[in-house]
Amino acid sequence: LSLALVSVGCGSKDNTAPADGKKVFKVGTDAAYKPFEWTMPNGDIVGFDVDVIKAVAEAGGFEVQIEHKGWEGLFEAVNNGEIDMAVSAITITEERQKEYDFANAYFEATQLILVPEDSTIASLADLEGKNIGVQQGTTGDISVRSAFGKEYAGVKPFENTPFAIQALTIGQVDAVVADNVVVLEYIKANPNAKVKFVSDDAFEPEYYGYLVKKGNTELQQLLNESLQKIMDNGKYEEIYNTYFGK
Ligand code: ARG
Repeated sequence: LSLALVSVGCGSKDNTAPADGKKVFKVGTDAAYKPFEWTMPNGDIVGFDVDVIKAVAEAGGFEVQIEHKGWEGLFEAVNNGEIDMAVSAITITEERQKEYDFANAYFEATQLILVPEDSTIASLADLEGKNIGVQQGTTGDISVRSAFGKEYAGVKPFENTPFAIQALTIGQVDAVVADNVVVLEYIKANPNAKVKFVSDDAFEPEYYGYLVKKGNTELQQLLNESLQKIMDNGKYEEIYNTYFGK
């Protein structure tokens, strides 16, 4: 019997405890990915993904418990049942779909190249022969390797995206390839960083989805129905505008 799936509310009025009868799903994330998920100084995990999954849970009549697992840890934790799902700006890819199931897409993204302000890099092709920082195992990593070869020595994988960006700011890498919104957020939050972004149509559109264990169609369907509810009732749009509205 999995205790994680059983309500422990027991009539408590404490609003941190799950309400009676509600299922609690464990959600893992890599909380170093502003504005999608990041960790506040007090340890709270916040962000667009957090607000959306909480709204999804409310619409679906369940609760979520969000914990930091790190990017690579996420996939393993879904597989071994440590968490029920991963919510972490995860792009739905064919490769990942072989091993996991995804709920429906909830966000469109693409890759951007982050470079020093004075860089002459102006396209994906210009990255050939350069050192490129990526978060290991992300679609940024995958895009660079599919452009220049799986074993391309210029790919410098980092455990998280902030480490890759830090390497750029100290001149360890010539560029970083990462999700557009995260790159733009970094530029906005660091106006003195002397960096700029480069876009290239060669990067395909990507779609984020919630990752569940292969064959967990029950949770997949619950997520799809609940996501549809907040798309229909305006809640998704409200959260979207809070983060990305003009
Ligand atoms: N969207 C990209 C991917 O799925 C990057 C996601 C990284 N997310 C994170 N929370 N670090 O590969």
